[in-house]
Amino acid sequence: KSLQLDSIESLASALKQGIFSNIVVLIGAGISTAAGIPDFRTPKTGLYDNLDKYSLPHPTAVFDIEFFRRNPQPFYKVAKELMPISPEPTFAHRFLSVLNEKGMLRRIYSQNVDGLELAAGVAPSRLVQAHGSMASAHCIDCHAEIAIDKVKQAIQNDQIPVCENCTGVVKPDIVFFGEGLKERFFTLSIDDLRCADLLLIIGTSLVVMPVASLPAMVHDQVPRVLINMEPSGDIGTRPNDLLLLGDCQETIKRLASLCGWQDEIQRQKL
Ligand code: OAD
Repeated sequence: KSLQLDSIESLASALKQGIFSNIVVLIGAGISTAAGIPDFRTPKTGLYDNLDKYSLPHPTAVFDIEFFRRNPQPFYKVAKELMPISPEPTFAHRFLSVLNEKGMLRRIYSQNVDGLELAAGVAPSRLVQAHGSMASAHCIDCHAEIAIDKVKQAIQNDQIPVCENCTGVVKPDIVFFGEGLKERFFTLSIDDLRCADLLLIIGTSLVVMPVASLPAMVHDQVPRVLINMEPSGDIGTRPNDLLLLGDCQETIKRLASLCGWQDEIQRQKL
């Protein structure tokens, strides 16, 4: 018999009872806006609405590998403007870490490159950084690794970091349009989604492939819960889908309080 979740209360009750042991979580930029990092596609505040001054052929060119090879400057200007120097994990990130501690989490698929899942204490083995991370960097020509602190320093000084070996341009290890995802994404995702007993989707517009294809891979009877400002993807088209629309931090605070986990999550901050 499939589990029917029709409200935040029924979700909280199922979580509290420990019904789930293979939760798969899919997150995007909306989970990190409360940490001061803008998302991409929200009109006015999203990054793609604020790139006029860079005279790009189209907004996503800022993360396009061919464009970056010719002109890395817009990416580095945006990186300086957009990345707070040391962002703090949000309540929602810490909620995910508590799911991990409770042994309920199978995997988090994150499209974010901010590393806030790890900063919140999620075990690296439980995380797939589908679009890479800002925690390391390589030369795009000779592929030498460049110390990330040097890259961050250059960004702060309005310089474009350059490889000391070959003078090639350096790129943080984030996946650009035109690049493939890491093997880890493909090796883990099929089994993870097949075994999922709950899919939580938080703060993503579900438009960028292949991550956007993951929600279709869970079994029909498995609940899919969307915690987002607006509807996204095809969530809502299956009988076991639940939409919790609004600010994800507020929704997750309410969820945590219904579960009685709020103190645990607050304590984690210390
Ligand atoms: P988007 O900007 O496309 O979508 C963010 C979603 O989060 C939107 O649906 C927002 O409404 C929602 N949102 C924003 N703030 C929220 C909040 N406080 N509470 C709840 N919902 C909120 O970002 P992603 O889906 O992550 O890839 O974008 C996917 C990929 O596109 C990114 O990884 C990036 C981008 O191009 C690359 O650069 C390769």
